[in-house]
Amino acid sequence: MTLVKMSKLLSPIRDNSYAIGAFNVSNMEMTLGAVKAAEELQAPLLLQIAESRLAYSPLSVLGPLMLAAARQASVPVAVHLDHGTTQGTIELALKLGFTSVMFDGSKYPLKQNIAMTRRIKELCNSYGAEIEGEVGCIGGAKETYSEDELLTTVEGAEQFIEETGVDALAIGIGTAHGHYKQRPKLHIGRLKEIASVVECPLVLHGGTGLTRENFWDCIHHGIRKINIATASYDSVAAYIRNTAAVKPDAGYFDFSAAAVEGAYKNIKKYMLLFGMEGKV
Ligand code: 13P
Repeated sequence: MTLVKMSKLLSPIRDNSYAIGAFNVSNMEMTLGAVKAAEELQAPLLLQIAESRLAYSPLSVLGPLMLAAARQASVPVAVHLDHGTTQGTIELALKLGFTSVMFDGSKYPLKQNIAMTRRIKELCNSYGAEIEGEVGCIGGAKETYSEDELLTTVEGAEQFIEETGVDALAIGIGTAHGHYKQRPKLHIGRLKEIASVVECPLVLHGGTGLTRENFWDCIHHGIRKINIATASYDSVAAYIRNTAAVKPDAGYFDFSAAAVEGAYKNIKKYMLLFGMEGKV
């Protein structure tokens, strides 16, 4: 079908019948697996790569590949930079034609985060692209934070959206990236409070390890984009390990096919879980 903007895919904050999974990829195999899942389910697709992964997959190489896969897909696909932190990377993504970028200024005080996000928003506007911002803190699952550090405040979210005009907002409600050391405690009450006063689609990071109940609690109360990365990397690695175990003489192309399959299976699972089937 076509390359589309993130906002075309995200349902309005009051439509709580589904959410869009945003799937991190790091190579051609993962990209092809994601497109295969979306085409099979007739689901829209949000493909993304995080700036922290670019050491393995240079944006100047993988970015055009993601965009080509999006343009050739039979379903609408948005291509997004996840956790952009430097202007150089963000500008490169925009020059390549990414339809949106996330600027993650969450480590800065709110005022500074707002000022920096506004500047990146202007840059995005000049490329006709959209922007996701972040208020609060969504750390790594291995790190320890106090609740005050983790949670996005209602006032902070409102002020950030009003002063930056972001197209989507990642909020801290107790999730973290990577493997959880213990069951995360999700602050659904805080999500509800934020969703009741903003119109901007809200984003949940750190999807790996959450339960169906966790996801649907979030979807029912205003989350419209859910990021999944670690689970896809784990699935790809497991499929490759299994290929090596069952086929001792497996060669490169067996492993390449296993990587596509590992990404496809995991992404399809989450698309079904988020109610994305048939939502093109
Ligand atoms: P996980 O790696 O925990 O799935 O988080 C993904 C994410 O939020 C990427 O921004």
